[in-house]
Amino acid sequence: MKNDCWGEKTDLAFKNIADLKRTKGVFMHCHSQKFDLYERMWSVQNEDQLRNKLYYEKYPWGRGRVRKLLELLSGYNCHTVHPHPTLRIIKELDQAVVDTVRWHLNDKIVLDACCGLGRFSVASLELGAKTVYSFDGTFEGPYWTYQRIKDKNIPNEPDVFAGQEWDYGQADIRKLENLDSRLVPVQGDIENICDIFKENSFDVIIHSMALMHTRDWKKTLHDLSLLLGHEGILAFDFFPEGTTPSLTRDLRDIFKKIDLDLTYRFLQVIGNIKGHEDMRVCYLHEMLTNDDKFSEFKKIINELRTLTEMHPIGLINDRLRLEDLKTPFLRNLSPEDVCNFIRDDLDLIPVLGGVFEHKCVVVAVSRQHPSQQNF
Ligand SMILES: C[S@@+](CC[C@H](N)C(=O)[O-])C[C@H]1O[C@@H](n2cnc3c(N)ncnc32)[C@H](O)[C@@H]1O
Repeated sequence: MKNDCWGEKTDLAFKNIADLKRTKGVFMHCHSQKFDLYERMWSVQNEDQLRNKLYYEKYPWGRGRVRKLLELLSGYNCHTVHPHPTLRIIKELDQAVVDTVRWHLNDKIVLDACCGLGRFSVASLELGAKTVYSFDGTFEGPYWTYQRIKDKNIPNEPDVFAGQEWDYGQADIRKLENLDSRLVPVQGDIENICDIFKENSFDVIIHSMALMHTRDWKKTLHDLSLLLGHEGILAFDFFPEGTTPSLTRDLRDIFKKIDLDLTYRFLQVIGNIKGHEDMRVCYLHEMLTNDDKFSEFKKIINELRTLTEMHPIGLINDRLRLEDLKTPFLRNLSPEDVCNFIRDDLDLIPVLGGVFEHKCVVVAVSRQHPSQQNF
């Protein structure tokens, strides 16, 4: 098949390319307003990254994207708060683990399902993937992932975690070639992902920080398992039971009655929009004591005042995060249920996992995987 920037390509994983519209390079499948929240988040954060090359210093993730992907794929440093008998835990990210993960990615076809701004798409290419499909419900996510990879406009992240320096070899997007054709940006709803891609198309599927936001976690994992090739690896994470504080749930109850625009303005005024902190007009405590100035937020202010009777205002302020308030679903799942489901219903083998930084990480392989012992 021929097209403008992918050239002669025979390995596109699409089921029927005629169902997709190409817009600014992105393969689009039924875009919906349901992704407005993330469209905004990614547009602001992308702007901010472009404006400020020191983004990674401003929002330190602690570890760079490559290391984060290695951690996800290797279950690094997980501890068994919710042990599951079939899961093996790797305690340390040593060179052997790094080499194994690289071996699993090298020359492979990767699906970054719900890629956001694509940090794991970038890291997969840096670790040697042949082609990465950056899939998300938003247009902004895959679009900017593709633009920035194509333009090599992504700074290398020094990895100095815990004072230890890591050298991942070629893991620097600026050193890589043919990036135009190796990154395929796709917009679509994960609920319809099997209408978009052919079964058995991917060697590795990454599904990070997204399962808890999907309407039906079992359907999501089921569909991803169908897209996984016979020797495939599915790596995903989710919030285990008890992760989301009750205060966040109370705040979600308040903000589910408030539309996205007003929620956004409110958070911007109190300086709680990531990337737009400089647009703060006042602090939350000032707003709660001075509501005459903020009549459009009167309803929110009244409800938050009630919450201050039970929680310190600083804590309420910390929990007022756009995504937590407005994401349609914020599930906490039982690791046991998830592992049983992927093993018994999907016939995948959960090989690794555990709880790490409030997330449960699971790595599963499809049966007949010859190298699962390597993990
Ligand atoms: C918390 S972000 C995670 C982004 C990225 N995986 C990461 O770890 O940086 C969740 C992502 O899931 C996407 N998402 C949520 N529901 C979706 C759906 N039904 N279909 C496709 N993408 C969805 C959002 O657009 C958002 O980009």
